[in-house]
Amino acid sequence: MPSQVTVSNGSIDGSRPIRARIFRFDPTRDREPRYETFELPYEKGMRILCFLERIREQGSDLAFMSSCGMAKCGTCSVSMNGRPVLSCLESVEEDMVIEPLAFFPVIRDLVIDRTGYNATVTALKPYLHRSEPYKGYPEKLRHHEMRDHASLMECVECLCCQSICPVLDLERREKTSSQTEFIGPAPLVQLAKLAFDPRDSLNRAALALRAMIEKCVSCYECVHVCPVEVSILECALDRMREKITIAEPDSILARHIAAFTDILEDEGLVNPTALILKTKGLAALGKLPLAIKMFRRGKVKLRKERIPNINRIRRLTTQWVRSR
Ligand code: SF4
Ligand code: SF4
Ligand code: FES
Repeated sequence: MPSQVTVSNGSIDGSRPIRARIFRFDPTRDREPRYETFELPYEKGMRILCFLERIREQGSDLAFMSSCGMAKCGTCSVSMNGRPVLSCLESVEEDMVIEPLAFFPVIRDLVIDRTGYNATVTALKPYLHRSEPYKGYPEKLRHHEMRDHASLMECVECLCCQSICPVLDLERREKTSSQTEFIGPAPLVQLAKLAFDPRDSLNRAALALRAMIEKCVSCYECVHVCPVEVSILECALDRMREKITIAEPDSILARHIAAFTDILEDEGLVNPTALILKTKGLAALGKLPLAIKMFRRGKVKLRKERIPNINRIRRLTTQWVRSR
């Protein structure tokens, strides 16, 4: 179990049983999902996985997955009271609704189908592409070369982040075409792991662009739910975006990032009008109807706003740009 993760059932005194409404569905048999309620006595330090195992020991045919029981294999994730969690790591609560992870097809009860995720990761070529032949074991890697993506190595592919991402939720509702679909945080962590490996020579920045990385809105939802505290944004997505500015400087994303920092340094705040014009150039004319609508709502400023402390903001922005 990762050392930084702590578990506590401190709020449960054990005087009442643990009650869970659990999602049941067998697509080969049932027309609709249903919920079955189970009540069991509390056991000290009880995790959700213990609760599920006790149910099965009592003869239920409830389907769920687990393998290692110690936050290493990533197979036991479920949704508990609407929050994606690793069931072997997460403490029970007195009242729970336990469901399969959102956004994934259900095989049975709490077991999800990971085929789509596996296919997405496979398309990212998840193995080292070496420009130099393998020199044999052991390969010497310098600490500073690996330091920044050590956090990514902790990823157990539990897909909790994937099931909470609001962009994936929106795309699912809008049925976005597979050509322009955002692939989500979990596959991007796998991509970043290789992108920052000094032995890898494939243009991973181009793959990240194809994966629509620019659609991530940096809401941190994925970071908050990651059970093993992977720095999904700082160490994976943000660094991938930086890599794109160098490897693919003509891409819209690279132009957007350059325009964003230029405007911040110049004006001390983000000016959406200037940002769109600088990023898209003449293609921004296609957004004219939207711009007029935003202007009417007071969201488009034609004149530069002067803000207090602008020199301080400029200094901070310059420091940030240099530190990257
Ligand atoms: S980044 Fe965290 S939440 Fe996402 S798949 Fe990896 S371990 Fe799970
Ligand atoms: S930060 Fe990006 S990848 Fe993570 S949940 Fe938000 S939109 Fe999705
Ligand atoms: S059983 Fe392996 S991570 Fe939970």
